[in-house]
Amino acid sequence: MIAKRILQGICLLLAAALLAGSACAEVYINRETPEDWEERELLRIYALYALDCDSFVLECGGKTMLLDGGNSPKEKDLTDFLKEHGWTHLDMIFNSHPHDDHIEAEYYAIRRGTITTDVFISPFREDYSYSFQKRAVKALKDKEIPYRQILNGEELTLGGATMLLYRYDPGTKKIDGRSLTINDMSGVLWVRFGEAAILLTADIGGTIQKMLADQYGPEGLKADILKAPHHGKNAVNTDLLKTVDPKLVIVTGKVARTDDVIRQMNRAGIAWKRTSYGNILMETDGKDWYVNQEYPSEQVRKQEQQEQKKK
Ligand SMILES: [Fe+2]
Repeated sequence: MIAKRILQGICLLLAAALLAGSACAEVYINRETPEDWEERELLRIYALYALDCDSFVLECGGKTMLLDGGNSPKEKDLTDFLKEHGWTHLDMIFNSHPHDDHIEAEYYAIRRGTITTDVFISPFREDYSYSFQKRAVKALKDKEIPYRQILNGEELTLGGATMLLYRYDPGTKKIDGRSLTINDMSGVLWVRFGEAAILLTADIGGTIQKMLADQYGPEGLKADILKAPHHGKNAVNTDLLKTVDPKLVIVTGKVARTDDVIRQMNRAGIAWKRTSYGNILMETDGKDWYVNQEYPSEQVRKQEQQEQKKK
């Protein structure tokens, strides 16, 4: 009996140690960073102002990455932002999938030569038959930028941050009686830096969200911050939300079209931020996140406050 109790105790301690090792950082929203913040090694993620498109820039250890540039109206904002930060040459561009609202801005910027990169990375085959894929591949060839396909389970690094790719490519196989859409096959990145983690879910639909949760569980998906899949146009799959267990959700869709996801977060007591209210900066030293938004005007800041109060 005593031996059994000791064994149970050891099991509990081991479980606690494993949980402590999984992603868990504090998330401070609309708070100033500590005085010595700039002296620390940081991962900075900018979710740029966007309405129904994704445009993220990541920076860590002097390395930069563009994760989807957004649709064509975003091109100027994006190139202005990169120019302002001195990042017109990126270490990598990662395109989650070749839909216009994710690839158009970087396609035009590459074609015009306003941005360059060491490598263009995508979970899709270079010869994937889709209009924007073909146009992007041609622009990359013209500019002599290498294309690299990344596969499910491969990991990228950006300074001290690691980025694990989850991606389903069922080939001709159907799932739930239907072929997967390009959205469903988009690349999901689990980005980790120290104890901090963020899950960037591109546009995956509910079926894939559930498959990810079932297959990889919290040890493969837990994150402090979650980007709502597909711009938050639908509520997040409840299994995925439970598995990721985020403290903050980033919504990249327009206000009226994403009310369901906002209501879902309010019910679950999870904080949220929308890119439609301005650029969001998420920065972490691996222990804490500080998340702040750049409102384009006082009026927009008040609009956000009013929506947050509606809870
Ligand atoms: Fe999209």
